Amino acid sequence: MNNIIIRPENKEDYFDAEYMTKRAFWNLHHPGCDEHYLVHLFRQSEDYIEELSRVAEVDGKIVGGIYYSKAYIMDGDKKVDVLNFGPLCVDPDYQNQGIGGKLLGETIKLAREKGYKGIVIFGEPLYYPKHGFKTCDHFGITTKDGKNYDAFMGYEIVPDAFFDVKGKFYESEVFEQLYPDKVEEYDKNFPYMEKLKLPGQWD
Ligand SMILES: CC(C)(COP(=O)(O)OP(=O)(O)OC[C@H]1O[C@@H](n2cnc3c(N)ncnc32)[C@H](O)[C@@H]1OP(=O)(O)O)[C@@H](O)C(=O)NCCC(=O)NCCS
Repeated sequence: MNNIIIRPENKEDYFDAEYMTKRAFWNLHHPGCDEHYLVHLFRQSEDYIEELSRVAEVDGKIVGGIYYSKAYIMDGDKKVDVLNFGPLCVDPDYQNQGIGGKLLGETIKLAREKGYKGIVIFGEPLYYPKHGFKTCDHFGITTKDGKNYDAFMGYEIVPDAFFDVKGKFYESEVFEQLYPDKVEEYDKNFPYMEKLKLPGQWD
């Protein structure tokens, strides 16, 4: 697909971007999803990085989005700032046409231009390695609980950015504010979709 526009989000896009996010994650990992509420919370948070977050537009329609936030690694008593993003998502009707890759590639390029050094995420373990991400055990970075697993990955925007950074990763506290009752209430702003328990969900 070559008519994809990657651009900053406007207020007028908020509903469409969140509804697209809801459709991308609905019943994917759990019955329902909370990622559209996460996008809503981030826009009001000091941790949100608007200068890197982007939506994808095709024929005037919002079909994808990537939302960046501030995170850090505690290396002893040294705090090292890193980027985190999430959600990254594409409208189910437009997946596997290069839109996710383009959102990722263009925002990483932008982050490099703006002087950011590295990214750490929790994400799809089979998707991000295609875009150069490595599991964080490669870098000597663990979760805040001292763990490593396939979904916990990093990317050096600048070569060897993590060479002398070792320690525990902390993402924005916004991820801990996804209270089910608030998500349920916020979800009423969007067209109804049925929550289903499906094979392959995490729980
Ligand atoms: C994951 C997602 C962002 C990828 O965006 P996309 O535009 O569909 O993907 P692209 O066109 O850039 O890339 C397609 C490639 O990625 C692979 N891919 C797509 N989704 C994948 C997934 N969830 N896990 C592993 N690989 C995936 C495709 O098989 C394809 O592989 P190929 O190039 O070897 O044929 C999108 O599918 C999505 O929104 N999924 C639902 C929400 C989600 O899981 N988001 C990521 C959370 S961390």
